[in-house]
Amino acid sequence: MCGIVGFVGQEQAAPILLDGLRRLEYRGYDSAGIAVCGDGAIQVSKTRGRLQALSDLTHGGADLTGSLGIGHTRWATHGEPNDINAHPHLSRSGRIAVVHNGIIENYMELKLQLMEKGYTFRSETDTEVVAQLLDYYYAGCGDFFEALTCTINIVDGAYALGIICADYPDRIFATRKDAPLLLGYGKDGNYLASDVTALIRYTRDIVYMDDGELAILSDKGIRIYDRMLRPMDKEHHHIDWEIDAAEKGGFAHFMLKEIMEQPRAIREATAARIQDGRVVLSDLTMTPEQIRGIRKLYIVACGSSYHVGMVGKYNLEKLLRRNVEVCLASEFRYSDPVVGEGDLVIIISQSGETLDTMAALREAKKRGARILSIVNVVGSSIARESDDVLYTWAGPEIAVATTKAYSTQMAVLNLLGLYFGDVMGTTDYETYSNAVKGILALPEQMEKILAAHDQIRELAQMCVDHDDVFFIGRNLDYALSLEGSLKLKEISYIHSEAYPSGELKHGTISLIEEGTPVIALGTYAPLFDKAMSNVVEVQARGGQVLALTTESHAAAMSERVDAVIAIPDTEPMLLPQLGVVPLQMLAYYIALARGCDIDKPRNLAKSVTVE
Ligand code: AGP
Repeated sequence: MCGIVGFVGQEQAAPILLDGLRRLEYRGYDSAGIAVCGDGAIQVSKTRGRLQALSDLTHGGADLTGSLGIGHTRWATHGEPNDINAHPHLSRSGRIAVVHNGIIENYMELKLQLMEKGYTFRSETDTEVVAQLLDYYYAGCGDFFEALTCTINIVDGAYALGIICADYPDRIFATRKDAPLLLGYGKDGNYLASDVTALIRYTRDIVYMDDGELAILSDKGIRIYDRMLRPMDKEHHHIDWEIDAAEKGGFAHFMLKEIMEQPRAIREATAARIQDGRVVLSDLTMTPEQIRGIRKLYIVACGSSYHVGMVGKYNLEKLLRRNVEVCLASEFRYSDPVVGEGDLVIIISQSGETLDTMAALREAKKRGARILSIVNVVGSSIARESDDVLYTWAGPEIAVATTKAYSTQMAVLNLLGLYFGDVMGTTDYETYSNAVKGILALPEQMEKILAAHDQIRELAQMCVDHDDVFFIGRNLDYALSLEGSLKLKEISYIHSEAYPSGELKHGTISLIEEGTPVIALGTYAPLFDKAMSNVVEVQARGGQVLALTTESHAAAMSERVDAVIAIPDTEPMLLPQLGVVPLQMLAYYIALARGCDIDKPRNLAKSVTVE
């Protein structure tokens, strides 16, 4: 995934482009570049490394003069991160510059065709093929807009494109397919960006482009065309985030800020959806008949969003007394899934742009299933292609390792389960009302856990110098252990496994040796005794056990383990909502002690819009 920005207006473009890219660095940060059109020519500066390297190279953008330009921060897909593969890419004529987010799947075929026509390529990227194609068509027809339409008609794959041409020094051209791109309407100029955080300092008046649309931005305004090249008007969105919502707010890292934001985020996600003790999903269009008529339920997602689904499986099967199949999107899309008319596929995604998840959505939809998505980014592609979307309202999540989005996704999924259980008549009133009360109590209980962060920081020392850490649990604790393990791996680079406690003895326990750190999750009361016996098993092999349990079981657990983290007691289905908070903090403090780059871990990006 990469970040794109564009600006056209009265001011010098380069400093604005650099500022916008700075807010998109979490989308990819192995190289960056800008292109500015001035005095009838295109000036390009690009370099491997973080955005600061580009800013240093261009003296804060002062070296490039002109009031129109595009910029890019990269997460490499084709071609290693270096100065040549960095975007923007120029056409052979040097008169066209392109920035791109996505993958051109037929780029090699097109590259060979262009080479046969005498084109040479400087980079290994798929994006340079777009620049040369534009050059080829433009040389042939003399009309750049037509050259652009010819180009997008021949390329396959996913792309968000920002393009400038020196022959049109007052315009930026933009188009998208399967990758996000939005337009910003400012008082001193107009903007292009991959997401809102790049623009919010300049404008709150936003339009989200849809697949196949083209836009021409000038200082005077923005013209948008549909895939039939007909001029069109689109709905404007007013973004009401505070600017610092996308800033660190005084915290050392975005991740810590977002961990600490969870009580507020849970309130935002649930308050409007609980009225007088009842779950109210006014943003859900499904009728009670449609809900009762659901044939089969699927939850499809990637990464941490998939882990939300794993918790959801246990909770929704209890509430609805029917099977819930949880699938990794990257597997679902190629598995010839047995899904169709009458099935409900719940798609979970923070970014709403994860390509595997989008592809799984389209596969399910093509087979006749109804799509309900739980998404954080408003107006994202997944949201707009779903039959229903329940937003998590978590606000921008900048850290690559998700925290508040995971928690709010889970809260919304729990609300959905209660709502469905009520409509289907499969959830008894006591369970329903206790769960609703429990959800309302979550923010305060989370605050209590967050207040104990110093204890968790101390306990983190148990794992800092180890190469392998195990997370074990049963039922909901197993589902939660998946997320605890991923958080640790993502940001501390320590190898970790999440394992069903009961399965450990069937092989993996051979890896437990003297001093191996084991995080034993024992919050789920019905299986607490089983959890205790698993603790004994790993201790017998020398394992060092840090247990996570509830306050009511803390004393019993403390007698057996090396250390205990206790969370407040709550309804069983809500235990992961509280249990995840100490696990997030544990991962954070371990990574901090190991000196890792917490907000931008190596090899990762915030939203994976490639296969
Ligand atoms: C979570 O910490 C990771 N950043 C990653 O697993 C993420 O959850 C996954 O890529 C799915 O992203 P999405 O929720 O935006 O679809």
